[in-house]
Amino acid sequence: MNLNERIPNNVNLSEDKRLQRALEKWLPNFLSWWHDMGPEGFQQKDVWLRTAVDVGSEGWAHFDYVKMPDYRWGIFLEPAEPDAKVGFGDNFGAPAYQEVPGEFRNALRRIIVTQGDTEPASVEQQRRLGASCPSLYDLRNLFQVNVEEGRHLWAMVYLLHGYFGRDGRDEADALLERRSGNPDKPRILEAFNQPCDDWLNFYAFTMFTDRDGKYQLSALAESGFEPLARTCRFMLTEEAHHMFVGDTGLSRVVKRTAQLMKQNPNEDVRDLGGIPLDIIQKYINFWFSYSLDLFGGEISSNSADFFAAGLKGRFKEQDQYTDHIAAEGSFTMMVVEDGKLAPREVPLRNALNEVLRGEYVKDCEKGLARWNKALTEEDLNQRLYLPNIRFHRHVGEYAGHHFDIEGKLISAEEFAARKPEWLPTREDREYVGSLMKPVTEVGKIANWIAPPATGIKGKPFEFEYVRL
Ligand SMILES: [Fe+2]
Ligand SMILES: [Fe+2]
Repeated sequence: MNLNERIPNNVNLSEDKRLQRALEKWLPNFLSWWHDMGPEGFQQKDVWLRTAVDVGSEGWAHFDYVKMPDYRWGIFLEPAEPDAKVGFGDNFGAPAYQEVPGEFRNALRRIIVTQGDTEPASVEQQRRLGASCPSLYDLRNLFQVNVEEGRHLWAMVYLLHGYFGRDGRDEADALLERRSGNPDKPRILEAFNQPCDDWLNFYAFTMFTDRDGKYQLSALAESGFEPLARTCRFMLTEEAHHMFVGDTGLSRVVKRTAQLMKQNPNEDVRDLGGIPLDIIQKYINFWFSYSLDLFGGEISSNSADFFAAGLKGRFKEQDQYTDHIAAEGSFTMMVVEDGKLAPREVPLRNALNEVLRGEYVKDCEKGLARWNKALTEEDLNQRLYLPNIRFHRHVGEYAGHHFDIEGKLISAEEFAARKPEWLPTREDREYVGSLMKPVTEVGKIANWIAPPATGIKGKPFEFEYVRL
């Protein structure tokens, strides 16, 4: 691992002068993007951050006070496996690709650009949250997520510069030019153009949208294109913390809401400055449905091609499956036919987006079970749930149709009439916004959220995670 270079890396960057020069040219553009679009305020404050200094089990989590612009963004790949093989598809068992397979060059570049685009997008979406943090602990977690998304951008830019020549460099530049929510130059995927301007949004985003990242990266971590697989494996170690922030964040909001419901005989937490369960549910519905779109169409020839080529596998392809060819099976899913829902059987390889989405949904359900435990512990009967996967979709088989929260096909008029029950209204957003007052005293926390069970890396909650 070379930490002393301008770009810390474990890919022997100094031995590839052309690549090093290209990345060193991109570096000031990245820093200027971070300056303009990174977390607002706080750039000159010391934040107790984790920095990757090695890919080993200890080294990737080195903690110290760092000013965000001084964070050591770098290029870290998991070590290569000797004799790595293509783990699935038509070339199963062949030596892993060390270069981009020619016929899939465009498709693979698109995969990398699409993943890369989400990383700076989320930083842009979250850039104003610091001003309304519920505690220093949460503020620090926000910035940890932000700097690591910056590093994930580096990870994808390394692949673009290293393996795609001129057009890779152009794509790397474009990653710094698009802007979340900008109508003229939006980010590629719609979830990453949605506002994430309060902390309930932030927790739901890191729970549901970062979790999509986990499944995309897991599928790419199986890739027969080895540089991509090794890159994604390392990104996954960091991604786990992001989902932890969202999962425990929502859990703490639910817990606090439950406590306040018990304090008020009519269970209305607004009087007490809490976030009502029905608003929490609507935020879940919003981010879960947008995140489902990120998996792509239910029936997809791209998914079949990527699997056949050994580029994008299934979740835990090696651990979970014995048949890595998947040429025979089929998958039955519900589609809309003649204005009705009907089952359709699809060749398995064409259904792999849906298979991956199914794994994701199972994982999200575990989060819901944890949050509902917080309600049980306060002796409340209300429960939070995930909406049906057909609800509020903008991509794939269900886009262009309307479904209720249980997945029943309904008319556009009925959907419009019931939308305020299911998705955050302007009033809901304004109410949540009205609670977002910064709490920056060491050991203090906002009234609408419970403190975490423990602090970070052995430190207590009452620790000066950010020196203001
Ligand atoms: Fe990321
Ligand atoms: Fe993330």
